[in-house]
Amino acid sequence: MDQICFDPMLAYSRPELAVYMRRPGSFTLVAESTIGDANKMLKEEPRILGFIVAEARRRTGHITTIDVLPQSRRSGIGSALLQAAEDRLRQAGAAVVELETAVDNAAAIKFYKRKEYFVEKTIPGYYSNQLDALVMSKDLVVTPVKENSRS
Ligand SMILES: CC(C)(COP(=O)(O)OP(=O)(O)OC[C@H]1O[C@@H](n2cnc3c(N)ncnc32)[C@H](O)[C@@H]1OP(=O)(O)O)[C@@H](O)C(=O)NCCC(=O)NCCS
Repeated sequence: MDQICFDPMLAYSRPELAVYMRRPGSFTLVAESTIGDANKMLKEEPRILGFIVAEARRRTGHITTIDVLPQSRRSGIGSALLQAAEDRLRQAGAAVVELETAVDNAAAIKFYKRKEYFVEKTIPGYYSNQLDALVMSKDLVVTPVKENSRS
């Protein structure tokens, strides 16, 4: 699926993704299609529509990749996967979540900005084809604003 979702120069190979998924603190969440009709004689197997791989690194969480099949996009699957991963990272003690995305990935940048991620910096030549990456991050812990006490 990563190879369907990304340019061949950026996509992970199966062994590469397996390494990320098995790293300590790493977890993978999968979005599956639901079985439409419970009374159907031939039950369809649920299909994988998207997945996210993330890693809890002490106080900082990291999104390794998020992939939704092209035909299943813009229906909230990416949002649900990201929200679930952020919740899990927060439970693991992360205060911040970070990720890298290619500078020319306009859809992903819009998606993350919509989810309150900010661009922290650019890493020149981050990808194997020398493309630059944006590092984006989001605070997972919202500090309550103190009200000014009146004298
Ligand atoms: C980025 C990606 C995960 C988004 O998944 P998705 O399921 O389409 O996301 P959602 O439906 O939850 O979108 C939520 C919001 O993000 C924004 N958004 C998502 N895709 C967008 C696009 N192509 N253009 C503009 N805004 C977009 C929109 O504001 C959208 O809300 P709306 O549909 O109500 O307008 C998906 O496009 C994808 O898999 N891309 C290829 C892989 C990739 O680039 N991954 C991220 C880099 S690590």
